Amino acid sequence: NLLTGILGNASLVLDSPDLIASDREKLEFVVTASERAADLTRQMLAYAGKGRYETRAVELSSLVRETADLMHTLLPKTVRVHTELADDLPWIEADPSQLQQVIMNLVINAGEAIGEPRSGTVSVHTRECTLGESDVAALDRGELAPGTYILLEVTDTGCGMTPEVLARIFDPFFTTKFTGRGLGLAAVLGIIKSHRGTIQVQTAVGQGSGFRVYLPATARAARPVSESAVPAPAADNVRVLVVDDEEVVRATTRAVLERRGLEALFAASGEEGLRLLTEHKDISVVLLDMMMPGMSGDEAFKRMREIRPDLPIIVSSGYGESQVMQYFLGSNVSAFIQKPYTSAALIQKIGGVVARSRAAV
Ligand SMILES: Nc1ncnc2c1ncn2[C@@H]1O[C@H](COP(=O)(O)OP(=O)(O)OP(=O)(O)O)[C@@H](O)[C@H]1O
Ligand SMILES: [Mg+2]
Repeated sequence: NLLTGILGNASLVLDSPDLIASDREKLEFVVTASERAADLTRQMLAYAGKGRYETRAVELSSLVRETADLMHTLLPKTVRVHTELADDLPWIEADPSQLQQVIMNLVINAGEAIGEPRSGTVSVHTRECTLGESDVAALDRGELAPGTYILLEVTDTGCGMTPEVLARIFDPFFTTKFTGRGLGLAAVLGIIKSHRGTIQVQTAVGQGSGFRVYLPATARAARPVSESAVPAPAADNVRVLVVDDEEVVRATTRAVLERRGLEALFAASGEEGLRLLTEHKDISVVLLDMMMPGMSGDEAFKRMREIRPDLPIIVSSGYGESQVMQYFLGSNVSAFIQKPYTSAALIQKIGGVVARSRAAV
């Protein structure tokens, strides 16, 4: 990218022996400034939700544990960290490095709110919670779906906030700190939104603050109750090919399909998926992941349609539908399902496309 070019060339010139001292100084400034710009860009991309985004199944408690060392290094000695992490949490479909950024930004803010040399405690909790219709309505302008969520809570015994400050904390470049950039929470919000979660803040001046992050759990934790409400597709002669590089997704999907009596084949890559499709002429529908190492989802899609032009293909991704569909302009995707999906949603999509393709024959 651009900044790599600037940084690379500036350091090349810096290495040249016949550079006069005043020029060297200016160039060193260029390097420092570009490094800072690169850093800012990363945060802003995360804020805009357009950074490189690679999701996999993540267990939040383990992720917090992995981040613990970093937390201790970045917090002043006078600040105590207290963690309370639930075991056996359902997984979430997430970008682990972005989630780590969320944890770190919240913990660093908490530490800064206590402020050296004062002492205090930062607590990090994780737990599972179920949000019903009324909970989601109360939480977030109705943007969340009811279901199972993983809760990450970061509380501090620091200075707390006035309502005026609280109203602006997520604004980019809003800061009350001398050296702050005001990007920490803007990035946090962007990341949480791109994971289809939400954040809640509780605070009062002198009483400390608490940040609660809710992230949707994956299909694995979906309540089987809602599933029975969905009419099953006629199970006879339906054979599903599931192409997904993630073991946990394949295992979950296998369980869901088996429970419905649907036959399924599984491939861990686009290449393997194509091979299975050529070998098994009786495949009636494909569930295809977009983000896979090796052959990408859209490439696999094209090749599959070459082999079987009429084959229903459901595209799945952690990205939203509008983003993913840009890759498929002009091609005919049978349906889209966003990860993490519930078993009910999956069965419904499969039932829908199979019914349509049969009606068309
Ligand atoms: N735990 C907290 N306790 C009190 N105030 C907080 C807390 N977290 C955030 N704030 C307030 O919200 C503001 C914005 O936070 P944000 O993390 O976005 O930026 P920052 O910490 O000022 O700078 P940086 O970009 O370095 O993170 C802070 O300046 C502070 O006033
Ligand atoms: Mg901050």
